[in-house]
Amino acid sequence: MALDEKEKKIVLSENDIPKQWYNVNPDLPKPLDPPFHPKISEPVGPYLAQLFPMELLKQETSMDRFIDIPKEILDIYRMWRPTPLVRADRLEKFLGTPARIYYKNESVSPAGSHKPNTAVAQAYFNKAEGTKRLTTETGAGQWGSALAFAGNLFGLDITIYMVKVSYNQKPYRKTMMRMWGAEVFASPTEKTESGRAILAQDPDSPGSLGIAISEAVEDALKSGGHTKYSLGSVLNHVILHQTIVGLETKKQFEKVGDYPDILVGCIGGGSNFAGFSFPFIPDKQKGQKIKIVAVEPDACPSVTKGPFAYDYGDTAKLGPIAKMYTLGHDFVPAGIHAGGLRYHGMAPQVSLLCNEKVIEAVAIPQTKAFEAGIIFTKTEGIIPAPETTHAIKIAIDEALKCKETGEKKVIAFNFSGHGHLDLGAFESYLDGKIVDYEYPEKKVKEALAKLPKVG
Ligand SMILES: Cc1ncc(COP(=O)(O)O)c(C=O)c1O
Repeated sequence: MALDEKEKKIVLSENDIPKQWYNVNPDLPKPLDPPFHPKISEPVGPYLAQLFPMELLKQETSMDRFIDIPKEILDIYRMWRPTPLVRADRLEKFLGTPARIYYKNESVSPAGSHKPNTAVAQAYFNKAEGTKRLTTETGAGQWGSALAFAGNLFGLDITIYMVKVSYNQKPYRKTMMRMWGAEVFASPTEKTESGRAILAQDPDSPGSLGIAISEAVEDALKSGGHTKYSLGSVLNHVILHQTIVGLETKKQFEKVGDYPDILVGCIGGGSNFAGFSFPFIPDKQKGQKIKIVAVEPDACPSVTKGPFAYDYGDTAKLGPIAKMYTLGHDFVPAGIHAGGLRYHGMAPQVSLLCNEKVIEAVAIPQTKAFEAGIIFTKTEGIIPAPETTHAIKIAIDEALKCKETGEKKVIAFNFSGHGHLDLGAFESYLDGKIVDYEYPEKKVKEALAKLPKVG
């Protein structure tokens, strides 16, 4: 069936929610390099078991292409899933492009982003294995609010270390988390050794995801068996849970007889981009021509400027060491407004696929991203999160290329979240107060010198 020009939203029924997640591990061009204990010579297995429940660790290394989604999780997904795939026809018209642009609207979840897809799954598997409390970090606050939402549904206590610059920029995110029953601290805090060490060096530290992760991991490790740690991106099991996004998108394209030529997502730790695009990778491997683009900010260009190397996942070297693109574990990014894109590393699966040229990455300045976000708001009406504007910018660029060539390409991007609690950032943009920051090459070299010697 050809696409009905008038069809704006491609909607699936609740019965069409995929019953299994897609696991990219068996389809990777080569196996992932294994993670290491932060004290390299010690075994990583028991250490990871202190932090995560067994079921999530099994998912981490599973070679099953599809993994069943438990009924309890599906029941919760039904609160907002399936999410619509929307034809951005007004944006197309504004751009004057022959391209067809679609966006998968993950902003309709209760927390306002894709993050609950994994928060609910992680809370479920933790609860099933007796966890009573979860600690985590959050940048922009989207992940923290998703875990607060999920923890509340399963009766888990949630402690959140929120990067201080975001805590101050987005006070209402904190309120959301507290409404769902979580406790929230501005990181670095005086509560942990990691936090105190940073504050001793720099009492005005704006914080970073790397520091907040250290605090959350330290809290979990020191609190004993009933407290575990939860990560909102980067890890294989997080990406696995996010593939519900791409699997639905595939069904929605099938429904209207269309198929994407270009897929775009922004990358912080890589989870929304990967969840959206990985289910298309088997098609690409079978010869389907599909360009898959990850977009990062110039201020935190892990994939486009960092080396593909083993590094710590956090500043205080408490979290596992992984092989990934990295800007160095002690990297403190400029306080750009896309807080969720300020992570020094990148998901190992995304890193490997980039290194193998299955997917590609670009970096853009934040003013260009905000500009694209405003165009989107004016044409399609929805206010995107600053993170999401990075994907919109590249979708627009690709559509403008089609305008030049006359090609009718199909461009789809993941609308990872709304920006209703990021209005301060948009206000600054509209007032001309947002400046660009490009990460200097010299600093990348400095970071290289501090990488752990593994293997
Ligand atoms: C709306 C939104 N999009 C994207 C991201 C980036 O994270 P990830 O790369 O894991 O999807 C975040 C992270 O906080 C976010 O809140």
